[in-house]
Amino acid sequence: MQKILAITVGCLLLLSVSLTGQNKYVGVKMCAMCHRPEKIGKQFEIWQKTAHAEAYKTLTGAKAAEIAKAKGLKVAPSEAPECLECHVVKADAKLFEKSFDIKDGVQCELCHGAGSGYKSMTVMKDHAKAVAAGLTDFKDEAAIEKFCKTCHNEKSPTHKEFKFKEMWGKIKHSVPKG
Ligand code: HEC
Ligand code: HEC
Ligand code: HEC
Ligand code: HEC
Repeated sequence: MQKILAITVGCLLLLSVSLTGQNKYVGVKMCAMCHRPEKIGKQFEIWQKTAHAEAYKTLTGAKAAEIAKAKGLKVAPSEAPECLECHVVKADAKLFEKSFDIKDGVQCELCHGAGSGYKSMTVMKDHAKAVAAGLTDFKDEAAIEKFCKTCHNEKSPTHKEFKFKEMWGKIKHSVPKG
């Protein structure tokens, strides 16, 4: 009996740790606070000019409506899980902080991981700490390409061949060296 109780308590503890330990999505506005200046590489401005920033808006347009009609979707594309799956951040609504806006489409944290744990200056400046706090660690270009193809594939109704080097060149947002 005591053993069973101990196991139950243990499980509950593990469960609560894994729930409270989950990082939350803070939204692009938070990342923009530090990732706007020229010196750091203007990541916010670069992203804002990419198609990724418009990915939600695209689902409210005429072309999306046409695709949805042809597929016989019962709801608007901007509400259909079949479309939202690649056009916005997918996560439990409980993980979205107030500053997060789903309408920002394919945003920073979709690729870099939910930011509540790593967004402070001291953590951000230290790669190992940032990764330990939830920042995605892309090992090399092959890993990046594989990640891109989780959306850029034939499941997309408008899929075109994904030429990684060219496409990466269009959205790359490096920190200037030196
Ligand atoms: C308080 C300021 C601050 C905030 C807020 C912030 N960052 Fe950073 N971030 C930095 C600094 C400073 C660096 C280090 C830049 C360098 O390499 O000199 C950095 C580095 C990074 C890196 C590269 C880290 C590595 O080790 O590979 C990524 C990716 C990144 N930030 C993404 C984000 C995202 C996404 C958000 C929003 C969730 C965010 N940052 C919010 C300041 C910030
Ligand atoms: C969560 C899904 C998702 C991931 C992951 C993703 N993309 Fe996209 N990407 C999209 C969507 C959706 C669009 C179309 C946005 C629109 O037009 O509204 C798009 C559009 C683009 C475009 C503009 C299309 C063009 O032909 O110029 C480029 C470039 C691009 N993505 C590059 C990348 C690269 C490089 C990666 C990996 C680092 C990547 N994407 C990862 C969903 C994704
Ligand atoms: C597997 C991921 C994925 C799914 C699911 C998806 N999309 Fe997309 N969507 C993309 C990507 C990636 C792009 C960028 C161009 C490309 O490669 O298709 C895109 C681009 C678009 C565009 C812009 C195309 C252009 O040429 O201007 C429209 C419109 C669109 N999607 C509508 C939809 C609709 C409507 C649905 C749901 C029926 C949907 N998408 C489901 C990934 C997806
Ligand atoms: C479509 C996916 C995607 C989106 C959206 C995206 N990034 Fe990135 N980002 C990457 C990848 C992949 C890398 C390269 C691998 C790495 O350095 O982690 C990268 C690199 C970075 C770096 C490090 C650059 C360096 O030279 O070390 C910073 C800083 C960064 N991103 C910040 C941001 C911010 C801020 C946003 C939103 C305004 C954003 N990213 C949006 C995929 C993305």
